[in-house]
Amino acid sequence: MAALLGARLLFCFSCSLLLFALPSSSSTPSSFHGLSLRKQASILVSIGQSFRTSDPFFPSWTLLNHAALCSWNGVRCDETKRAVVELELPNMNISGVLCPKIAELKSIASISIPGNSFSGEFPSSVSALSGLKLLNISNNHFNGTLEWNFSRMVGLEVLDAYNNDFFGSLHVALSELPTLCHLDLGGNYFNDTIPAEYSEFRAISYLSLSRPGPEPETRRQPEHRAAEGKATNPNHKS
Ligand SMILES: *[C@@H]1O[C@H](CO)[C@@H](O)[C@H](O)[C@H]1NC(C)=O
Ligand SMILES: *[C@@H]1O[C@H](CO)[C@@H](O)[C@H](O)[C@H]1NC(C)=O
Ligand SMILES: *[C@@H]1O[C@H](CO)[C@@H](O)[C@H](O)[C@H]1NC(C)=O
Ligand SMILES: *[C@@H]1O[C@H](CO)[C@@H](O)[C@H](O)[C@H]1NC(C)=O
Ligand SMILES: *[C@@H]1O[C@H](CO)[C@@H](O)[C@H](O)[C@H]1NC(C)=O
Repeated sequence: MAALLGARLLFCFSCSLLLFALPSSSSTPSSFHGLSLRKQASILVSIGQSFRTSDPFFPSWTLLNHAALCSWNGVRCDETKRAVVELELPNMNISGVLCPKIAELKSIASISIPGNSFSGEFPSSVSALSGLKLLNISNNHFNGTLEWNFSRMVGLEVLDAYNNDFFGSLHVALSELPTLCHLDLGGNYFNDTIPAEYSEFRAISYLSLSRPGPEPETRRQPEHRAAEGKATNPNHKS
């Protein structure tokens, strides 16, 4: 079975090109869910309060500065400058947890926080974000079971959870998502059973369920994790 989990399917076409269109494609009026800039700023401030980081980055994240929300570091708004559509905090040495309040940012289409040291369970509230297209949480220490209600995440195109500490069973509902084209659950501790439904993804062009350990091909390895081994993880089921 471990050999099965080592399987890596890589097709010629990548769907990531779609993502360059993200901010504008989510700028329709329907993406504006009526939250004031001030309210959205206060949600982000709460989220930032659970971060620990050495990066001199978050000073812009204060409620006093809410009028300039769309130019806060790591934050991008739609064209109307009224709704946050993107949160991008890659490789910033952030540790701590991700606050479930993130799901209150109803207009968000892209969350990209790879290469940090986030830990604890990833908030399952994220499954309420029906407009979410991209979730990149690769190279962190998130754990838990990924028991999200994927049925509401109808717009999800990319889920990159590579190299975290997730465990439990692989979720069948993922294979039912109509637009999911890139799924990377590799480098986690999911159990040995690959659901039969995983042969029936609708739109997939990249799928990886590889086990922790030496990668069959070289992938990203941020410096601050390079020295860590998965072998010491208590959840390791090999
Ligand atoms: C990362 O953050 C930790 C504390 O959170 C700090 O001790 C460490 O020096 C930081 N590393 C870098 C490369 O900034
Ligand atoms: C998940 O990570 C948190 C924070 O590191 C830890 O306290 C908790 O015990 C972990 N949970 C499991 C089930 O491993
Ligand atoms: C996720 O982020 C990492 C680090 O920036 C990047 O290498 C990777 O390609 C991203 N994943 C996707 C699917 O775009
Ligand atoms: C998941 O979400 C769908 C759609 O909102 C809902 O009908 C269903 O009851 C939810 N399932 C669970 C287990 O919460
Ligand atoms: C894997 O998960 C499934 C579903 O939760 C469970 O029935 C099965 O016993 C698990 N297998 C292993 C090897 O832990």
